[in-house]
Amino acid sequence: MRSRPQTFSPLLTLLLFFSAAPTLVSAAGFQGRVGADADTPIVGAMVTFRFGSPFQERTVFTGEDGSYQVSGLPAATEYKIRVRRIGWEDFLASESTTEAGSDSLDFTMVQHTDMAKVAAQLPAYHWYALVLEKVTNEVDREQLVRQCNMCHQQGNAATRLQRPAEEWDKVLSLMARMGGGLTMEFREKIPELFNSAYDPKTAVPRLTKGFGEPGFAPPPSAEVRQSVIDEYELGGRSSMQHDMIVHPDGYAYSVDMSTDTLFRLDTSVPGGERTAFAIPAGDEQLGGMMDSGALPSNSSMRVGPHSLQAAPNGDIWLTLAVANKLAIFDTVEESFVMEDLPGGIFPHTVRFDDKGRGWYTVAVSNHVGMYDPKTGQHDLIRVPARDFGEEVMLRMLPIMMWLGQWIDLTEMASTSEGLDIPFPYGIDIAPDGGVWFSQLNAHRIGRIDPDTYEVKVIDTPFSAPRRMRFDSKGMLWIPGFSSNLISKFDPETEEFEHFELPAELLGADAPYTLNVDLKTDDVWVCGTNSDSLIRYQQDKGKFTIFPLPTQVTYSREIDFSADGGVWTSNSNAPTWQIETGMPRIIRLDVDGQIDVPQVSFNP
Ligand code: HEC
Repeated sequence: MRSRPQTFSPLLTLLLFFSAAPTLVSAAGFQGRVGADADTPIVGAMVTFRFGSPFQERTVFTGEDGSYQVSGLPAATEYKIRVRRIGWEDFLASESTTEAGSDSLDFTMVQHTDMAKVAAQLPAYHWYALVLEKVTNEVDREQLVRQCNMCHQQGNAATRLQRPAEEWDKVLSLMARMGGGLTMEFREKIPELFNSAYDPKTAVPRLTKGFGEPGFAPPPSAEVRQSVIDEYELGGRSSMQHDMIVHPDGYAYSVDMSTDTLFRLDTSVPGGERTAFAIPAGDEQLGGMMDSGALPSNSSMRVGPHSLQAAPNGDIWLTLAVANKLAIFDTVEESFVMEDLPGGIFPHTVRFDDKGRGWYTVAVSNHVGMYDPKTGQHDLIRVPARDFGEEVMLRMLPIMMWLGQWIDLTEMASTSEGLDIPFPYGIDIAPDGGVWFSQLNAHRIGRIDPDTYEVKVIDTPFSAPRRMRFDSKGMLWIPGFSSNLISKFDPETEEFEHFELPAELLGADAPYTLNVDLKTDDVWVCGTNSDSLIRYQQDKGKFTIFPLPTQVTYSREIDFSADGGVWTSNSNAPTWQIETGMPRIIRLDVDGQIDVPQVSFNP
């Protein structure tokens, strides 16, 4: 050490000591036990360590003996700790780690005596099941899940409030303006349906039946308890992190639809380093092509980035849903190129073929688009409507939207049954190059020939096929959003095979998307209404539910990192319903084996 400071503080000495040592040292951690008392360990409790600003949270589970161990935390840092297990009061504490190594910390938890508080700890699907069991008409049940679980959970603390009929009327007309329409006949039944199902007087005793007995809210299995979950706060209270990907460069990227931002998250830095890239909005007005009267009041959306995908050359393509554009982001130059689309309304989800061409669904106008960046060629393929009347209506949509500049159509939308358009949704490319898409509301999938653009559609024997993916063997996996299942489709035989989501989910989940980990062919499914990620192992024919620590973890896209991480974003819209009111990017490390970033002690 050549330049010795004049004065010494203990901290400075520590810093100097470490700067003389190798720059990177292993990170700190905690270990200990969670129990009700010395004899009663609490199994399967989630122990969460929050640090930094914006925060990162790392969660581990307690084992059979109540013990936990967490590593990979930065040393000399303040932590907010939360220990959580259904049936027990959240245990909250603050602690700081001193230096590299593992500090010992035990926690004693107190069991809840107020059953309303226990019921409030249950994920939304428990409550929602009480609604669904009352809807005996299958057509109504299907439309309720498809239309009302599209943006946010049902049965969470914000949506299960009892309200006077006139308040429901206002809520439901706002939902219809935003795209969550129900038939008028069914909509009139909602106030009574929700108010009676969500009545705490009857709901709480039902939901907490068997409290204190082993069968009530059992702990996750030993296998699940090995997992480590990292959550990175991203964006702000007005954010809506729609989709996220893990780029081959190792960064996670996410699109904030309501603030028109592309975020990059570098998890090799302790706590995560976040960079925000504003997507150029040009002279788009508030709401873009959509009527701004149907926007949540805190949204500043002008282009509405919705989905993103890494192109074979490393660029990231973003669909700008309300600006009818693609944005192409050069990850090295950190700059955007905007690409106008030849038509259509609401470019939605994009995937690439092996020629580097991008294929994207266009949800509102019922198209699939293709853009070839090598030749500059754009094509817009009209996919079939269900009948002639629908075809005419879809062709008139641009005129209606144009009229909307002068006539207030939002009032019309709020009292109508909402547009029940086919809604091209998920898209993926088969090993033979065929382009497969789903039409959510038409309950169909289809194939486009990549050369002739010939289109074939196939009815799905289940409702609401959403975001789908091919596995390594060329089988197409499809989540049935309102049918509580995933389905395997063989493009050769055109046969479907269904796998119902686990019975614990009470038929009240809504699988929004799935993705296949091509290393194992495991299928991962978003548990949008159950605060979970769900794995289906094809070789074992087995589902496993991985609970996530934050209430109202509604997720829409799943991706995988090279180190085995399973990633998603917390994209409940509105964001304020999420516990803490802040959205997160989430990484599930299934067996807790992913190397943690090394912590630098150099000041
Ligand atoms: C297009 C997205 C979308 C769909 C579809 C949707 N919602 Fe919402 N919902 C929202 C947003 C955004 C808010 C917050 C509105 C605000 O605070 O301005 C919200 C809020 C709510 C609330 C809370 C309102 C309050 O006063 O706190 C309830 C209850 C609700 N929605 C129920 C429903 C039901 C029932 C359906 C199906 C008919 C539905 N939602 C469909 C986006 C949606």
